[in-house]
Amino acid sequence: MWLPHAPRRVRINEVSVRDGFQIEPEFVPTEEKIALIDRLSDTGLARIEITSFVSPKAIPNLRDAEAVARQIRRHPEVIYTALVPNVRGCERALECDLDEINLVMSASETHNLANMRMTCEQSLAQFSDVTALARSGDLAVSGCVATAFGCPFEGAVAPERVQWAAGRYLELGMDSITLADTTGMADPRQVSELVEAFRKWFPGVPLTLHFHNTRGMGLANVLAGLAAGVDSFDASLGGLGGCPFAPGATGNICTEDLVHMFESAGIGTGVDLDRLLGAARDLPALVGHDTSGQVVKAGKRTELHPVPEWVRAQ
Ligand code: COA
Ligand code: ZN
Repeated sequence: MWLPHAPRRVRINEVSVRDGFQIEPEFVPTEEKIALIDRLSDTGLARIEITSFVSPKAIPNLRDAEAVARQIRRHPEVIYTALVPNVRGCERALECDLDEINLVMSASETHNLANMRMTCEQSLAQFSDVTALARSGDLAVSGCVATAFGCPFEGAVAPERVQWAAGRYLELGMDSITLADTTGMADPRQVSELVEAFRKWFPGVPLTLHFHNTRGMGLANVLAGLAAGVDSFDASLGGLGGCPFAPGATGNICTEDLVHMFESAGIGTGVDLDRLLGAARDLPALVGHDTSGQVVKAGKRTELHPVPEWVRAQ
């Protein structure tokens, strides 16, 4: 049997509206964001990260977080989540009736300082208050360890550092963990080893992998995670994305390519690929440039071309 330990069904979490739009050169108008989220809600995606409740000075493109969160149509089967860096962000999220918040700290001190302007301990002190606040408001809390596979400033990140960060998250009572490869430094062997280690450190804790395709290893890393038993993956429509505070950051793995790969290989996603491709096709007009999606250009592999006349005549 192919990949005997791999789940046969996975959950896909869409991050284009957050990870993608945060780094776009142009502000995407609020009503366009809402229309895209509503469209994505009808594709069968498990979770959508709709915005960030961060400082509008740090991320001007997501300065409309409240308007987006309040005006989207809520699909009952989709989990709506948003990135939160501190207590202020959690207070804002609580007023918008989300299902979950996503707390982000980097495994590397240097990237956390560059991104969040806090040391890791300062982030954790905020998260302690945030988790208490979230619990009072019936909000699930997911903890993301950024730069878990490497840091653009410090280089290699020791697995023990990831263990430390995730362990601190779980001590605070977070419900699930995401390991993020912020600038596409992970390789498939590293993914396999880190996931195996994670399972030993934290048995039974829900784990999501978040990959960027910065060095072309994104889907290979997904397969390594899948083979190690992971069933939840972040991805971004059109492969948009990147952290504005990580030099050289580029897009996430592309959602429609990921769904196409999984479905081709017999791994269920629950996502309607045609609907997703419809949204992906309209994305360049929305952001004003081409995207890195492959399937949107090539078509699904089942879409055949007419046989040339002269071949048919043979
Ligand atoms: N939402 C809105 N505004 C916020 C905020 C939040 N969650 N947290 C802080 N602010 C405001 C403050 O009110 C203050 O505003 P003022 O200058 O008008 O008085 C300003 O932001 C600076 O606040 P301060 O507490 O000094 O924060 P900082 O400058 O040290 O920045 C963060 C810390 C975490 C707020 C900021 O770095 C941030 O939002 N980072 C997010 C980065 C990100 O999203 N990266 C990509 C995802 S990986
Ligand atoms: Zn990311």
